[in-house]
Amino acid sequence: MKVIAIANQKGGVGKTTVTLNLATGLTNLGRRVLMIDLDSQASLTLSTVGESSGSCIAEVIGATQPGTRSLKEVIRPISEGLDLAPGGTTLAISEIGLITRLGRENILKKALAEISGYDSVLIDCGPTLGLLIENALCAADGVIIPSLPTQLDLRGVNTFQESLSDVRSELNPDLEILGLVINQFDWRFILHKAILEEFQAGSIPILAVIGRSVLAASTVGKGQPITRGKLADQFDELTLKVEHWLNDGSNRI
Ligand SMILES: Nc1ncnc2c1ncn2[C@@H]1O[C@H](COP(=O)(O)OP(=O)(O)OP(=O)(O)O)[C@@H](O)[C@H]1O
Ligand SMILES: [Mg+2]
Repeated sequence: MKVIAIANQKGGVGKTTVTLNLATGLTNLGRRVLMIDLDSQASLTLSTVGESSGSCIAEVIGATQPGTRSLKEVIRPISEGLDLAPGGTTLAISEIGLITRLGRENILKKALAEISGYDSVLIDCGPTLGLLIENALCAADGVIIPSLPTQLDLRGVNTFQESLSDVRSELNPDLEILGLVINQFDWRFILHKAILEEFQAGSIPILAVIGRSVLAASTVGKGQPITRGKLADQFDELTLKVEHWLNDGSNRI
């Protein structure tokens, strides 16, 4: 079982969109996938389950005190081969409460060690740099960084890369940066092309460039993957690269 965190401390860059489309793409290739919604906004949960009032991952992680449920107990089926550990607003309480807990960075990793039957776990992180994302990065074998093609996002990725270096040196030396997903790209914009070149000149590989399309905005809100048009092909390219990594990578949890 391989764990991938979909993370960037910047908001609105496509973390949830990438999580849902990649998870569906992998299940279409026959993989069994668990998505974890580790964002207190619970966008992934709201769009797939329809509400975020049931049991959620915060009850597994706990806050100042350990959680009261096992990961297995909160998992819900979404579609053939695809499950979700829902998120909820109480994750905001976990984030604060965890500060006082011993072993606070490894709580999600421990919870994941108790489940089996999945080929891959995708963690949809929230737009913060706190203890929840540290938990995701400690539990993960790899991280995918979605970003928009703007100057500020480029800087944001550089900042995030520094955080990843810290996590690797202090907490999880085996964490692999799978690469960037440049999202909402418009080939007509010279600025987008210039930023893409800057990203290409950097040290993080680019896994996929996803165009801007209203189809992305309308489908992810309904918890559906993009199944047609150029974007479907672009997400397929991402899925195939991740599938390749799942087959060839050597890290196991
Ligand atoms: N390729 C795209 N083209 C057009 N709209 C997109 C695309 N990808 C995502 N969106 C829209 O942009 C918004 C942000 O996307 P998404 O929720 O995936 O980002 P996020 O990084 O998860 O945000 P947050 O940080 O709030 O969790 C959503 O409304 C989504 O539908
Ligand atoms: Mg999100």
